[in-house]
Amino acid sequence: MLVRLMYASRAVAATDQDSLLAILRKSKANNPVIGVTGVLCYSEGIFLQVLEGGRSAVNRLYNQIAADKRHTQVELLHYEEIGERRFAGWSMGQVNMARLNPALLLKYSETATLDPYAVSGAASLALFEELVATAAIVGQP
Ligand SMILES: Cc1cc2nc3c(=O)[nH]c(=O)nc-3n(C[C@H](O)[C@H](O)[C@H](O)COP(=O)(O)O)c2cc1C
Repeated sequence: MLVRLMYASRAVAATDQDSLLAILRKSKANNPVIGVTGVLCYSEGIFLQVLEGGRSAVNRLYNQIAADKRHTQVELLHYEEIGERRFAGWSMGQVNMARLNPALLLKYSETATLDPYAVSGAASLALFEELVATAAIVGQP
């Protein structure tokens, strides 16, 4: 029983490269153990993350992440049962924002800024899928 979950949140403090790396390092250590894969995006104070895996594992992890004091306003954008993963290649991939084409943001939103609170969950998921297709994801499985 696989599910895909996507949420957005706001970082409580300016998240520098080191804080982001700490989150990714922890995710890469923990997620393979529980069979969760996904992608994390951070831009200008906003996190956007997709988690895929077993229903119980994803729900448990989501609740754990939602309680994390490093972010707030954790908002569930999308949740569905799935037949197959779309982000199977990463225990937790990171979107390379440097390679993010503003035109891609404009394709799905009113302005060229990442604002998942202002667009539908479907639009944010479509954006993630294009990022994966254009290889704008960094990080090892
Ligand atoms: C935006 C964000 C995303 C996170 N993503 C993950 C994740 O994918 N996997 C994970 O294990 N922890 C993730 N964490 C960290 C968890 O909230 C929590 O600190 C961690 O799972 C605790 O693991 P531990 O019990 O091994 O110390 C994330 C935290 C934040 C703020």
